[in-house]
Amino acid sequence: MDNRPIGVYDSGFGGLSVWRELCRLLPHESIIYLGDGKNCPYGGRSREEITAFAKASVQRLVDEGVKMVVVGCNTATTAAISTLRDIWRDMPIVGLEPAVKPACLSTQTGRIAVLATEHSLRSDMFLSTTSRYAEGVEVLKVVGERFVDIVESGKENSAEAYDAVRKVVAPLIGSGIDKIVLGCTHYPFLRPHIEDIVSGRGIDIVDSGAAVARRVEWLLKRYKIAARSDHKAEYRFISFADERYRLSLEQRAKSILDKLLISNY
Ligand code: DGL
Repeated sequence: MDNRPIGVYDSGFGGLSVWRELCRLLPHESIIYLGDGKNCPYGGRSREEITAFAKASVQRLVDEGVKMVVVGCNTATTAAISTLRDIWRDMPIVGLEPAVKPACLSTQTGRIAVLATEHSLRSDMFLSTTSRYAEGVEVLKVVGERFVDIVESGKENSAEAYDAVRKVVAPLIGSGIDKIVLGCTHYPFLRPHIEDIVSGRGIDIVDSGAAVARRVEWLLKRYKIAARSDHKAEYRFISFADERYRLSLEQRAKSILDKLLISNY
């Protein structure tokens, strides 16, 4: 038994979509969430830059005393996961990859779309996953233009957000796809718009958040580091940006918890 916190890291607010699934599935686990904020967005940056940010972020979480790290960012995972695992060999590090495998295994039309950042879609990891699982399946690669900026500025419920999503998603209707993979952790915050736009078109939306939470649960058992069942979870939020950014992370997380009806504040 180990009541130390789990560390979750993202370039900004996006990893809160993973944090939410962890809170839901593992209510006794404390979590420290690091939203970089200072260097966000990562999507158009080089592998070297993203790897440097990821190393600094995991180091910060280790300094805070975490027992495990979840890289709640597809872009940082595709750029840096092997480097991170090489450095912190004794600590479980869970990465997030666009859910290409389940989408390819379940498509009926043989055509899927993956929405992700520019970096993720051109990464070696993405190419090797698609070549492994997408045999006979056509994978349309689509960057969610402006999606990250919209979520970072808290405008996901605006008309501007709906228009940005429509611009990216509407052209996919009629392309023969039956799955849209959300391959960036910011994108689930725009999911209601995506659902609205594809509604009635036989297109499922595939997200990896819940599957990652199940993987974390499995690893906690395997390494015997789960928190005690009477442990009261605490949630903390840190950032490389200013205090205002950190506070908005905290507020956004609180409104997510309110929706889940969990209160650990
Ligand atoms: N949330 C991140 C992801 O899952 C990256 C967003 C960004 O910083 O561009 O890919």
